[in-house]
Amino acid sequence: LADGPLKGRRVLVTSGPTHEPIDPVRYIANRSSGAQGTALARALGALGAEVVFVTGPASVPPPEGVEVVRVETAQEMLAAVEAALPVDAAVFAAAVADWHVLGASLSKLKKTKGGLPKLEFAENPDILARVSQMKAGRPGLVVGFAAETDDVIENATAKRARKGCDWIVANDVGHGTGIMGGTENAVTLISADAAEPWPRMPKARVAQQLAERIARALLDAH
Ligand code: C5P
Repeated sequence: LADGPLKGRRVLVTSGPTHEPIDPVRYIANRSSGAQGTALARALGALGAEVVFVTGPASVPPPEGVEVVRVETAQEMLAAVEAALPVDAAVFAAAVADWHVLGASLSKLKKTKGGLPKLEFAENPDILARVSQMKAGRPGLVVGFAAETDDVIENATAKRARKGCDWIVANDVGHGTGIMGGTENAVTLISADAAEPWPRMPKARVAQQLAERIARALLDAH
């Protein structure tokens, strides 16, 4: 690859968990640290891309030299992603909550004698699917992640087709893998015609290799 192969290209990366409020002081979250998305944004920036980094409340700091948009909920993440378009490529590494709490309380829920709060959920927008299925202005390359605990490749392959993205980076976050929140990742890169298993390696190396693949795909599509 030539020097700065992504110079002049605008790339969006989502990262981190989302927080879905229950009331003003409580929320539902997940174990995503934002490490893989952050490493990816850094690697894409290092290849010369103009990076828009849309991040939920992650436990690692965002990379230097990228445009950082901080959000909390899935709804806010969708709005930030839509505002960042158009882009040449979009990578959805965020662990977006599938549901939000319906009618989240504006005041703190109280303990009441003999009563327990009942939470009702409503579906969140699927940001990856929406962007993948855009009729006009779709990014040239859309990459999703699939954190699975069982039948990783089978589930991720089905997910790629269902959502309509170009690639899915599948990873096994099953109990005992130490991947979610850890420093290493073992991924399989799934495209329309191949499932390519990569060896387990540091998230920074996964990011580097993925960024290079993205650069090559954009260059091939000129
Ligand atoms: O369906 P699932 O959550 O496993 O899909 C994971 C992929 O979809 C990730 O790339 C994630 O960032 C994206 N996603 C999204 N919006 C959602 C749920 C998932 O962009 N509401």
